[in-house]
Amino acid sequence: MNFDLLIKNGSVVLPWGIIEADIGVTKGYIAAIGKNLGTAPQTIDATHLHILPGIIDPHVHFRDGGKGGINGVEDLLSGTKGAVLGGVTSVFDMPNTTPAAVDAATLNAKRDYITGHAYCDVGIYVGATTDNADSIGALETIDGVCAIKVFAGSSTGNLLVASDADIERVMRSGRRRIAFHSEDETRLQERRKSFSSGDPYANHMVWRDVECAFLGTRRIMALARKTKRPAHILHVSTAEELDYLKGFHDIASVEVLLNHLVQSAPDVYERLGAYGVMNPPIRDARHVAAAWAAIADGTVDTIGSDHAPHSRANKEKPWPDCAAGLTGVQTLLPMMLEQVHQGKLSLLRLVDLMSAGPARIYGAVNKGRIAAGYDADFSIVDLKKTETISNEAMATQCGWTPFDGVSVTGWPAATIVRGNIVMREGEVATPIGQPIHFRS
Ligand code: DOR
Ligand code: ZN
Repeated sequence: MNFDLLIKNGSVVLPWGIIEADIGVTKGYIAAIGKNLGTAPQTIDATHLHILPGIIDPHVHFRDGGKGGINGVEDLLSGTKGAVLGGVTSVFDMPNTTPAAVDAATLNAKRDYITGHAYCDVGIYVGATTDNADSIGALETIDGVCAIKVFAGSSTGNLLVASDADIERVMRSGRRRIAFHSEDETRLQERRKSFSSGDPYANHMVWRDVECAFLGTRRIMALARKTKRPAHILHVSTAEELDYLKGFHDIASVEVLLNHLVQSAPDVYERLGAYGVMNPPIRDARHVAAAWAAIADGTVDTIGSDHAPHSRANKEKPWPDCAAGLTGVQTLLPMMLEQVHQGKLSLLRLVDLMSAGPARIYGAVNKGRIAAGYDADFSIVDLKKTETISNEAMATQCGWTPFDGVSVTGWPAATIVRGNIVMREGEVATPIGQPIHFRS
């Protein structure tokens, strides 16, 4: 047979195991998996490399509402450039942009802007507000929309739906799984009064304490059961929530962030100051251990970066005025491959969490596995290559990573999106990204 692209001699990570095989790609789809498949005008020799199904980062803030992003911080082009340099083939972008993605006009404009402005495929969240709460069910099925996002606790931007009554209104509109930023807003606001400007950055986790997150999640679970509406709890950051959520698999799914797996307090605040500040906060070793246990026992469904770029000027303000959020889309896969290298999880579990998991939880069509007829999205990685992450190598316009100077073993060699080689050995090609379709 003749294909458009042949990837030869790689270790192919299928859902049921790893095999030595070639992959034939035709018209952007996986056409065949096996040996001696045929010929193609374009071939990649993947000897000694692993071919993962395209890695999905389901949690990024690219700061671009479809009108260009924030100069010196990020836009869709620079954000997705970082993605493909880091071996990511799909991203789901958060709605706290300017303009915010909260109505049909902004969602359609943001989706239409993807073509020509993205190196990888993109899904977009619709932000819940107290204004659109009763009608958001009509917005979650707009083409390109991956899910509703509810900020139940305030963070960067002004999207907020905090009261039980308003969250319930959102849950009763539509039927798809809703993604939640779960921190209790009342407790957050009350506790903020006891801190002063210039307090140590480590106070971030004292202010936004365990109970802020746990209380938020208990409230959302009560409402999910009441309304029978599925919920995806984003960036679960406490041992308490991870334990509690094991009893809610009927209605809830779980995201954990890379930052909550590899950074811990007080070290992160001592080393990085404001560059360790994010919401929900990085906490102490007890919570890090609980997150790894939840990876091991299957509690966790997806891993994201929560890539949230801010200018250095806004980061370097005294706490709590410093911007919260850390960059991460470009370092997500290398840092997770390093965890595989260290024996913290298997490559198959990594793929379950970073490709199959997001595709399943959000219903991304034709994504998440290497199988005939699926999109030819591949993250080709060299598990033996050791590289050091640096600020200079970051595509993000803000120019910094919390992992500057960290050496990792396991590095992306090529990124392929629907049969297009968008990155090979650190060189990016043209931006061919498209909106992702989701089951509604
Ligand atoms: O740390 C964070 N930064 N948490 C969020 O919820 C938002 C994000 C941002 O957009 O900066
Ligand atoms: Zn986020």
